[in-house]
Amino acid sequence: MDIIRLRQSIRTYDPARPVGGEPRSRLETCMRDNCAGPLGNTVRFKLLDLGEVSRDELRRLGTYGVIRGAGLYLLGAVPDTAGSMEDLGYCMERVILEATALGVGTCWLAGTFRRGSFARQMGLGKGELLPAISPIGYAADNKRVIEKLMKRGARSQQRKPWNQLFFAADGWTPLTAEEAGSYGDALEAVRLGPSASNRQPWRIMKDGEGRFHLYLQENRLYNRALGKILIQNIDMGIAMCHFALVARENGVTGRWVREAQAQEFPGWTYIAGWVE
Ligand SMILES: Cc1cc2nc3c(=O)[nH]c(=O)nc-3n(C[C@H](O)[C@H](O)[C@H](O)COP(=O)(O)O)c2cc1C
Repeated sequence: MDIIRLRQSIRTYDPARPVGGEPRSRLETCMRDNCAGPLGNTVRFKLLDLGEVSRDELRRLGTYGVIRGAGLYLLGAVPDTAGSMEDLGYCMERVILEATALGVGTCWLAGTFRRGSFARQMGLGKGELLPAISPIGYAADNKRVIEKLMKRGARSQQRKPWNQLFFAADGWTPLTAEEAGSYGDALEAVRLGPSASNRQPWRIMKDGEGRFHLYLQENRLYNRALGKILIQNIDMGIAMCHFALVARENGVTGRWVREAQAQEFPGWTYIAGWVE
């Protein structure tokens, strides 16, 4: 929970402090140990070291000026199958939290990077997608104007209150902290998570039997702007990761499954249910 609170998007890095040694090998281990998503897809990770890329290619590997000074990038590829966006979000967020714990900065990028050039570095196979990447590095002391603007534009520090995110069985009455019971922190961890343009599209309903169900309040135009890369479904995977990690930290074991029979609510797309 502390690490989740600590994480924030870093867009300006210190080029004089590359990530190497112990932190780097810890990240590589984390990438290896966390590539199986809850919905059955496997994520293929790569740590791309820009120091090992040819000058020509380097020129093409851009983030449209959004990221500066990072020498390493985490790349995550998945098959183009059902649930793969959620699984990518789930697994990659686990690595991002590991980086945060190591004092290493990150920033989810699903829009502002040159996908084709990074995909070439990934050696993307047929039927594979590269939904997102993240710079990996130590934060620079001074933030640039563009970073401050991006943060303000996305109102990055703000999150929606509980009563707009978590609901009782009718999908309408807000869930109180008391009703959340031992899952209070897990829900709070979802609320604090990063999401594309900070839209916070996660909605969680606790049913009459006390089980939690995750839904996406999709902005269709926004979510489908990148074709097969469903940016808000990645957000869902991140939420599942935060929920599962903090539930476990609080001694509750369970897992996310996609149930065949899920309750429907207007405007919400069902994602998964939590099974103890
Ligand atoms: C799936 C996803 C995609 C994102 N894509 C971008 C991006 O392309 N460019 C960017 O600058 N930030 C991107 N972000 C970062 C969000 O804007 C950021 O997480 C959000 O504003 C909350 O701020 P915080 O991460 O500092 O808490 C993305 C975040 C997520 C979760």
